[in-house]
Amino acid sequence: MDFFIKCLDCGHQTPYNITSLKCPVCESTWREAQYDFDELAKTLPSILKNRPFNIWRFRELLPVNNPNMDLSLGEGGTPLFRAPNLGMMLGNPNIFIKDERQGPTSSFKDRQASITISALKEAGITEMVVASTGNVAISYSAYAARAGIKLWAFLTSLVPIAKMREVALYGTQVIKVTGSYDQAKIVAAEFAKQRNLFLDQGAKTIPSVEAMKTIAFEIAEQLTTLQGPKPSGKLRVPDWYLQSVSGGIGPLGVIKGFAELQKMGMTDRMPKIGILQAEGCAPMVHAWKQGLSTAEPIHSPRTRITTLATGNPGHTYTLLYERVISNGGTFESISDDEAFRAMHFLAKMEGVSVEPAAAVAFAGLVKLIRNGAIKPTESVVVNGTGHTTPIEEEVLGENWARNFVLPPHFKEEAPEEGLLAALKKITIDRFPRIAIVDDNPDVRRLIRRILQSQGNYTIFEVDNGREAVQLAQNEHPDLIILDLMMPEMDGFAVLDALHADPETASIYVIVVTAKDLTKEEKDRLHGRVQSLMQKGDFMSGDLIDEVRALFR
Ligand SMILES: Cc1ncc(COP(=O)(O)O)c(C=O)c1O
Ligand SMILES: [Zn+2]
Repeated sequence: MDFFIKCLDCGHQTPYNITSLKCPVCESTWREAQYDFDELAKTLPSILKNRPFNIWRFRELLPVNNPNMDLSLGEGGTPLFRAPNLGMMLGNPNIFIKDERQGPTSSFKDRQASITISALKEAGITEMVVASTGNVAISYSAYAARAGIKLWAFLTSLVPIAKMREVALYGTQVIKVTGSYDQAKIVAAEFAKQRNLFLDQGAKTIPSVEAMKTIAFEIAEQLTTLQGPKPSGKLRVPDWYLQSVSGGIGPLGVIKGFAELQKMGMTDRMPKIGILQAEGCAPMVHAWKQGLSTAEPIHSPRTRITTLATGNPGHTYTLLYERVISNGGTFESISDDEAFRAMHFLAKMEGVSVEPAAAVAFAGLVKLIRNGAIKPTESVVVNGTGHTTPIEEEVLGENWARNFVLPPHFKEEAPEEGLLAALKKITIDRFPRIAIVDDNPDVRRLIRRILQSQGNYTIFEVDNGREAVQLAQNEHPDLIILDLMMPEMDGFAVLDALHADPETASIYVIVVTAKDLTKEEKDRLHGRVQSLMQKGDFMSGDLIDEVRALFR
């Protein structure tokens, strides 16, 4: 695949690397992916003919080199359908719903998670941090679980408990920050820095923006099917695209998607964009109404719709502002009550039950039609972005989240000090540490998966005896899961070395072996290992039972 990264500030071009976060020339963190659109204009139409209708249909326009279908949960390819009853009520027959509830975790964030986690997996990332108002963490959790990536999610304590539980269900470490979403972002960033972990950068994460383009690609194809082909043979573009926003990554990606279709000659115009925010947290709308290209942050969001509570949209607003100025569109705010009413009439009239954050877009539709911004003859696609899946309380028991109380006098502009000390507490509260020693990567992966899916452990892996002994000395794991047959230093020699050193002599060891042991070999292990287990017995639950028993 041919693509590169272009700096939005100085235009410098670099090859793509997900862990490099800045332009090497001007240090801007605002960059975007560019593709060979002339070439794609020639090749893409015929490629598309044979592709299934899912997110990977457009893989030539996504920053993942080798899509790994083992990670897929069937993302993308959501339905687009007409809303005839809403249309009748509002006097507009061309209202369409892009039903993003039908993604794997019921929000449009599944696109973002699937592409971003795929790109991270491809880059070899195994642990990461995200801050979220709820749905991003749910989506990332599902894909991280599948990819075997350990995820730390920082959520504001205002996020509905049903969403937090869903995050925890996937095995993500949940940290509840008593503060606003913007504060949770700061805490998450500091945590990631301390531990040198990959931090999701929201709208600055290139695969995340790229993922949202697929909404535009799908709408153009689906609208053409629903409304019939155009005489010119080009794909149809709606007059309007409406979306509720918090950080703003949705419309940022969707606009880029429509622009790319136009660059490739597959469409001949751009839609106008309607960006809807909750009134109690509408920094973009305030700026827009004053004609400003930068938004003043809201420090104390006052909305019950926490999913949309980004108080500081930063540079994303400026990018959206520029695009709305050049393509048309508007920013509008919606009260919580208007959103709840919209949630109700949408369900009653169209059989579509969305969460309050998505209902903001539908309330926006009503408002923009009533105030004349959207004409009765114009076609409108509304992104029905989310829904919440309740998780049975009993599945998780208690203590599945950790509380993080912001230090007194915490200032967003200068987080440091108090924050560092408070964060250490999260770090101190440690999980049992387990080292997996096996020369076979598939066995290591299997054991890691079993452990990760069943409990909270800090896991180390090494593939030879010499490094196992070093790791034992440096990291002091609580348990070593040890293979016996390894080239050079085998498991028996590792046990000898561990026992010779008083610092490592008392570490628990579970031996797993593929081989039937002789009496003499069994005698060598006697008294030195906690238990002996046959490879292939893992799935029976024996391994995890042993491990749990050790740490009980
Ligand atoms: C259902 C729903 N709608 C809208 C948004 C706003 O998205 P963004 O933060 O990308 O603007 C979110 C964000 O999580 C969401 O989950
Ligand atoms: Zn630059």
